[in-house]
Amino acid sequence: MTAPILVTGGTGTLGSLLVPRLREAGREVRVLTRHARPASDGTEYVACDLLQGDGLDEAVAGAETVVHLAGGPKGDEIATRNLAEAAKRAGARHLVYVSVTGVEGVPIAWLRSKLASEQAVADSGVPWTTLRPAQFHSLVLGIAQKMAKSPVVPAPGALRFQPVDERDVADRLAELALGAPAGLVPDLAGPTDYTLPELLRSYLAAAGKRRPMLPVPMAGKIGRAYREGLNLAREGAARGTRTWESYLADHVAARTPAKA
Ligand SMILES: NC(=O)c1ccc[n+]([C@@H]2O[C@H](COP(=O)([O-])OP(=O)(O)OC[C@H]3O[C@@H](n4cnc5c(N)ncnc54)[C@H](OP(=O)(O)O)[C@@H]3O)[C@@H](O)[C@H]2O)c1
Repeated sequence: MTAPILVTGGTGTLGSLLVPRLREAGREVRVLTRHARPASDGTEYVACDLLQGDGLDEAVAGAETVVHLAGGPKGDEIATRNLAEAAKRAGARHLVYVSVTGVEGVPIAWLRSKLASEQAVADSGVPWTTLRPAQFHSLVLGIAQKMAKSPVVPAPGALRFQPVDERDVADRLAELALGAPAGLVPDLAGPTDYTLPELLRSYLAAAGKRRPMLPVPMAGKIGRAYREGLNLAREGAARGTRTWESYLADHVAARTPAKA
């Protein structure tokens, strides 16, 4: 019998797509979550808050491969350091980390924390692989839905994105987790680049809504980084195959006009 693969964040958007792929490849999976639950479909759940570390050694014990997807708005570098140290103590042979495109270029706190997490993985002493995917379709859809609540939608025209389908990210991650440690691999972006207004317009059209858009400038160091495209994937990036348009078609129902 092969050792289980530990997946932190296995209950999240990406994790819940990755876990079945690893199961289909015949692997036992152990999911680390803050909320204990009974095992199901060959997947075991172990309770641990990565920011606290209680139960972490037990969670990592016996796992040769650790895939780290858990993340939140704050403290990612602490959670990652705790996990990386535990993986080293347990003798894990492969630590896989999911970062994000633009992590080196855009000076915002969350990206700094992702970069520090990448470093903690690289310094862990456990052979590692790090993938930087672009923003997931589900995240971009959530942003578009929130922005469309405003009667006039502020849209910085210089802001570009390369949204990628989380199923494409899960496919790639499964391949990486089942393979040998590979260091920092090429980024993974979606098939097409868009400006933010283009993404918003396509969302509004799919939802059958009309909103005027207000072009807004992006100021400061962060604005400059976005204008220069430093949030985008590095050269040589792989491209997913599932498009933003097909995601919209599957996830957004157009509002039928009210009957007169
Ligand atoms: N969303 C995007 O567009 C995007 C783009 C590029 C990279 N990424 C990266 O991809 C990874 C997965 O993202 P996602 O969107 O799938 O995340 P998500 O849906 O927000 O799920 C977050 C996961 O993290 C776990 N978690 C949060 N805090 C934790 C803690 N202190 N201890 C243990 N577990 C904790 C949660 O588990 P429980 O609630 O069960 O405890 C949950 O499974 C993250 O590292 C994210 O930075 C995301």
